[in-house]
Amino acid sequence: MKRIFVTLMTLLLSLPVWADEGMWLPSLIGERIGDMQKKGFRLTADDIYSINQASMKDAVVLFDGGCTGELVSAEGLLLTNHHCGYGAIQSHSTVEHDYLTHGFWARTHAEELPNKDLSVCFLVRMEDITERLAAGEDREEIIRAACEEGVGYHAAIEQMYYGNQQFLFVYEQFDDVRLVGTPPSSIGKFGGDTDNWIWPRHTGDFSVFRIYASKDNKPAAYSPDNVPYRPKRFLPISTRGVREGDFTMIYGFPGNTQEYILSDAISYIAERSDPAKIAIRTGRLDIMARAQASDPALRIHYAAKHASVANAWKKWQGEVLGITRRKTVSSKRIYEQQFGAWAQSHPEYSTILADLRGEYSRIMDAYFAREIIFETLASLPYSYSEEERAEDCFSHREPTERELFHYLFAEYDKRCPQDYRVEAFTEGVGECGSTDAYADKVFDELWTRSDTLSSRKLLASVKERLGAIVDSLGTKSLRNLNSKRLNELYTIYIKGLREWDDARAFYPDANLTLRVAYGSIRGYEYADGEYHIPQTTLEGIMAKDNQEVYDYNIPQALRDVHARKDYGRWGSRVNGKLTVPVCFLATNHTTGGNSGSPVINGNGELVGINFDRTWRSTMSDIEFDPSICRNIAVDIRYVLMVIDRIGNASYLIDEMELR
Ligand code: ARG
Ligand code: ASP
Repeated sequence: MKRIFVTLMTLLLSLPVWADEGMWLPSLIGERIGDMQKKGFRLTADDIYSINQASMKDAVVLFDGGCTGELVSAEGLLLTNHHCGYGAIQSHSTVEHDYLTHGFWARTHAEELPNKDLSVCFLVRMEDITERLAAGEDREEIIRAACEEGVGYHAAIEQMYYGNQQFLFVYEQFDDVRLVGTPPSSIGKFGGDTDNWIWPRHTGDFSVFRIYASKDNKPAAYSPDNVPYRPKRFLPISTRGVREGDFTMIYGFPGNTQEYILSDAISYIAERSDPAKIAIRTGRLDIMARAQASDPALRIHYAAKHASVANAWKKWQGEVLGITRRKTVSSKRIYEQQFGAWAQSHPEYSTILADLRGEYSRIMDAYFAREIIFETLASLPYSYSEEERAEDCFSHREPTERELFHYLFAEYDKRCPQDYRVEAFTEGVGECGSTDAYADKVFDELWTRSDTLSSRKLLASVKERLGAIVDSLGTKSLRNLNSKRLNELYTIYIKGLREWDDARAFYPDANLTLRVAYGSIRGYEYADGEYHIPQTTLEGIMAKDNQEVYDYNIPQALRDVHARKDYGRWGSRVNGKLTVPVCFLATNHTTGGNSGSPVINGNGELVGINFDRTWRSTMSDIEFDPSICRNIAVDIRYVLMVIDRIGNASYLIDEMELR
């Protein structure tokens, strides 16, 4: 009976099993390898992950603590996204050497640019230590011992399935990582914010780095004596391209998903939290956009801020749309009811749903207040630096900055739950008579710096309130609606779910540990009768090219290459026409952190670099809908064409292994 029900539910909800959902642990990939091979993977589990021999994992790195990168040569050459290397590229850019605008290509090793705070980490090994911990071994001792296994090693113990399993991860960290090349932003960030999270896409979102090591190939702090790192493994590159239906695998570091949360939490996200945050940011973006449209100096000044505020703003909208469309809240509720019925005869789980719901209602307002405070009061500047004051555009900013204070004060006031107010704010409004008058007071003092007492007081009070909320939730790492108690309850709930729904293919939520996702190149039905094919080409870039529009103003060199059809081996016939493939869509389950991840074909060859998803598919952080969830990658042939024909850096390609 249970089985029949589960099968029915699986059909009903299109829960995973045959879908391309899942972010799998590399050391356990043996459990999936049969399915992968059935779908077109031609290598073995040991090729993906092994501790006895070099394997693909030795070609993948955590880049700068939040992105992924892959090794593509025997001399430590590394590919990642332009938006992942952005900080490094920006730090080397000056008015005379504006690498953001014009790109940069080191002609020799000596020209490669060191980066102070940039590191990459290889996974040396991972190990299930659940039993060792249960047997009483000391966590700190396990970590300490692992760190001593090698130079530059560090280790962490990470929970899987809310603590049902504990894994030790041992990393080797390299701190001498140099910038080798980047296309101009007009290629690397082509489409800018306008095209962000959008398909069809034409962004050449890549940059090139090199890892350096000591003479004995070990991690070392930057030194001119360091030499290019010789990796245990690097990825060969296929220039034969991809076609719809081809197998793809993504190997990288996804950051954060919540696939097993209760319907209560999903309705919190889709009906309360996301809509509030979207509304707040809509107003904030409007204020910045108006300033940007009115004044060229302000356009540049607010560009980075606008981009970062808009990124999550657009993502959340897609998330809400996806969850609403798919009725995730009600389908999860049915799933929970059925689990609850089963749990009645399993004492260990009989009260778990009620306990979870109880804890959710205890913490929801507090957590919501925290989110609102972050989006409003905590996002304002509490000082303007000397450098800013010296900038030409500083005085132009005054009305916009003031408007942001007025707006965000009012949004905070309107939305923050009564029990979790910021004390100094309430006092300030009381003294000044209104929110607007209080905003003027704080802002005037900050702007003229006559006296910043009121802003210092407000900031301290904001921090105090945020600290008190975190204390009441009992946990420090708060990336999602969660508490210490909730996490303990989820340990039990997930254990029960896995016992009950034994036909479901469970995988642990993303937590910035190395994962494998596999699927295929695939378009999707965007709207009734409107199918989006999974490949774009240079022709689409030329169609968008517009010197008047900042996001679409491509470099002249790219226009020239297109005019000459001078594509060499990077060209391909699409619909009978010679062009260069630019981006593709696939069904791989990815999230933030997967940016820069290698997209690997059935032969283990690199065919693209992952960099985004479509905004309407970002619900995959909560529920993966195979009909709509798609990741976006830049085709490796476009990357190579840009390195070769735009960067004139074919010597880099000579280092790579092309097939
Ligand atoms: N949406 C992608 C991600 O979440 C890319 C963001 C960077 N690009 C941009 N135009 N802001 O990271
Ligand atoms: N753009 C994201 C990143 O930077 C990837 C995603 O959310 O799909 O990691």
